[in-house]
Amino acid sequence: MKVGILTGGGDCPGLNAVIRAVVRKGEQVHGDTVVGFLDGWRGVIEGRTTPLDIHRMRGTLPRGGTVLGTSRTNPYKVEGGAERCKATLAELGIEALVAIGGEDTLGVANRLHREGVAVVGVPKTIDNDLSATEVTFGFNTAVQIATDAIDRLHTTAESHDRVMVCEVMGRHAGHIALHAGIAGGAAEILLPEEPFDIERVCDALRERHGRGRYASIVVVAEGAQPVEGSLTLAAGEVDAFGHVRLGGIANVLASEIEARTGYETRVTILGHVQRGGTPTAYDRVLATRFGIAAIDAVHDGAFGQMVALRADSIVRVPLAEAVGELKLVDPDLYHGVAEVFFG
Ligand code: F6P
Repeated sequence: MKVGILTGGGDCPGLNAVIRAVVRKGEQVHGDTVVGFLDGWRGVIEGRTTPLDIHRMRGTLPRGGTVLGTSRTNPYKVEGGAERCKATLAELGIEALVAIGGEDTLGVANRLHREGVAVVGVPKTIDNDLSATEVTFGFNTAVQIATDAIDRLHTTAESHDRVMVCEVMGRHAGHIALHAGIAGGAAEILLPEEPFDIERVCDALRERHGRGRYASIVVVAEGAQPVEGSLTLAAGEVDAFGHVRLGGIANVLASEIEARTGYETRVTILGHVQRGGTPTAYDRVLATRFGIAAIDAVHDGAFGQMVALRADSIVRVPLAEAVGELKLVDPDLYHGVAEVFFG
């Protein structure tokens, strides 16, 4: 079979492990020819490809990023984009496509599938906010990077009697902030799901410092929102999927905390460091399992499906289910566990 593969959206540690697994099982077991599309959906629109085989994928397992490149191009926002995608697939004789991506990339895959394209999805995002799978690969790596950073912030915060505001990724959901905040012993964790009151945050810090504690770590997800009217945030640029570019809430937060409490406050924005570099062993294994399951799904003709992790098994779920609704943090983990350690 001639199988196409692409990676779309923000890159994520583990992408190469998925590609490697698809190529290895496709070529070795199913006798497939695998063609990589460059730069996500943009490569499909423009017909830009690279041949992939077992030899090409050697040494890529521990490498971050994606050997295929990626983009946030949305074919449905480009004049004739979806039609050009279908024409490319037909011209190249691609019989099935494996699309590795988050909500946006898989949303396009779902739409193309409804229009007749044979596609299987693989869930990817460090944010872990995709429904229908309990975990996406890349999340574990991002949490580990953020936790390592928080551990380092503790010692410098304590040495200087400071509040440290650490901003992590998480646009609509605060999974990274919540997990890294719990693992790193944060005094406050602010998430998109739980609008925060800046004065309540300051009160908690005052109380903590009043009890003789001299340093605090506040972990904030980039998409955290203040309670309406309590703080003004700057608006950013919008991408092809309508998402505003985030980043910088920590700066607003830190100056408010310093102004209201008088505690010296510093900011660390982890940004793309969380997406770069080598995947953890957990993510390499999960990504490999997803890749194997995706090429098997192709050969079972399970198109319009996404591979997913449920109760530690890899299952297939309809793409429509995966992109329907975002997976938000478990309120019990926030209120029942994280909050116990606040202040
Ligand atoms: O892929 C999701 C994400 O990691 C978000 O948390 C973040 O807002 C976004 O990517 C930033 O991506 P970029 O800067 O590549 O557009």
